[in-house]
Amino acid sequence: MASAGSAVGLGNIWKFPYITGEYGGGAFVLVYLLTVAFVGFTVLIAEIFIGSHGKNDAVSAFETLAPTNKTSWKYAGFMAFNGLVIMTFYSVVIGWILYYIFALLDGLPTNVAQAEAIFGELVSQKVATQIFWHTVATAIVMYVVHRGIKGGIEKVNIYLMPALVTILISMLIYSMQLDGFSKSFNFMFAPDWAKLDSEAFIKSVGHAFFTLSLGMGALLTYSASLPKNASLTKTAFIVTLMDTGIAIIAGLMIFAFLFEFGEAPAKGPGLVFVSLPVIFAQLGLLGSFFALIFFLALAFAGLTSAVSLVEPAVQYFISRFNMNRLSATLVSGTGYYLVGLLALLSYTQSYGEIFSIAGEPIFDILEHTTDAILLPLGGILMAIFVGYVLPKDMVYSHLHKEMGKMYWLWRASLRYVAPLALIFMMLNLFGIIKF
Ligand code: TRP
Repeated sequence: MASAGSAVGLGNIWKFPYITGEYGGGAFVLVYLLTVAFVGFTVLIAEIFIGSHGKNDAVSAFETLAPTNKTSWKYAGFMAFNGLVIMTFYSVVIGWILYYIFALLDGLPTNVAQAEAIFGELVSQKVATQIFWHTVATAIVMYVVHRGIKGGIEKVNIYLMPALVTILISMLIYSMQLDGFSKSFNFMFAPDWAKLDSEAFIKSVGHAFFTLSLGMGALLTYSASLPKNASLTKTAFIVTLMDTGIAIIAGLMIFAFLFEFGEAPAKGPGLVFVSLPVIFAQLGLLGSFFALIFFLALAFAGLTSAVSLVEPAVQYFISRFNMNRLSATLVSGTGYYLVGLLALLSYTQSYGEIFSIAGEPIFDILEHTTDAILLPLGGILMAIFVGYVLPKDMVYSHLHKEMGKMYWLWRASLRYVAPLALIFMMLNLFGIIKF
């Protein structure tokens, strides 16, 4: 459940719809689904395998599992720090959500232009407000991480995740009676290959990793405490299914409303903040209630993911430097908080230029680097580690029991399909090959 809580986050409800909108729909969704099925799921099993056998933080896990003549594999474990890189912008977005929970109590915007103005003003003008909510988000995350995962977040998760799912499904059902729904369906599932340029391809593969919480040791760290008899394959399957299901539901529903109100789906990071409040406004008083619950649930979905982004680094400090949990949390939290401020400022009107590199805001640079480089690189390392470096028998004896004949398919996918797909993506990213 904790792993599903990690996977289901802002990536599903905030990010997936807006990047699908930006990169043109169907073909993008198809590449994403294929990557999830053939690369993501495969590597996810490998990541959980490393965690459940390593039984420690990521660096120690790679260190103990690597053969004695291959000790440098322990450096692969430093992927745990990528979580802090993600947190820089993730925390800013959680801050926006927290702000919305309060701002929407004042009344919902009734048209898209008004909604755009509210969001645009927040992001580009309200510097102090954003810093305040980024600070609140950081404080909550640090508090929870310092209490340990069992100290409360799990219980909250158990109530709020089903609440989020119920709200999303109700909204999906409501959206089905709109004319916009069939357009939304076509937009998401009818591939228009002309729109799939190499940038869309890279974004799609990168997002598959992001949304599954894959390639930085988050699920590895959680899997260290899986019960002995838990099936790794089943765990990976449930996480993948829930994560993908929620992304598709959120996308279908949001685009149905967008098409209904004649809005272009390419709205960028503001999509959820602009379109949803207007939709809620259509529902009158019930809508205000939905808006509140929705952003609250979204905040918790974000927070449960955030915890999993910080925990691997904290685990590392605790087990390698003998730090206590509080100091480990403070060090990790302060680090991402400060860089997060730069990301936040890079979207503002007054400081945007200073905090941009070659015209690209630091916020976007951080997001693209994790998606396109850091997570896929982590994925390649884990695929190679489990597929080639670990003793064959060790992997076979555990996973063949779970998978039966499918084991061979998984192994082939892990050794050939996943690394090749990722290497191909990276070569393309660096312009070495183009398509
Ligand atoms: N998967 C989460 C989301 O979709 C984000 C996330 C949590 C993540 N932990 C991660 C992404 C580890 C990459 C790696 O919002």
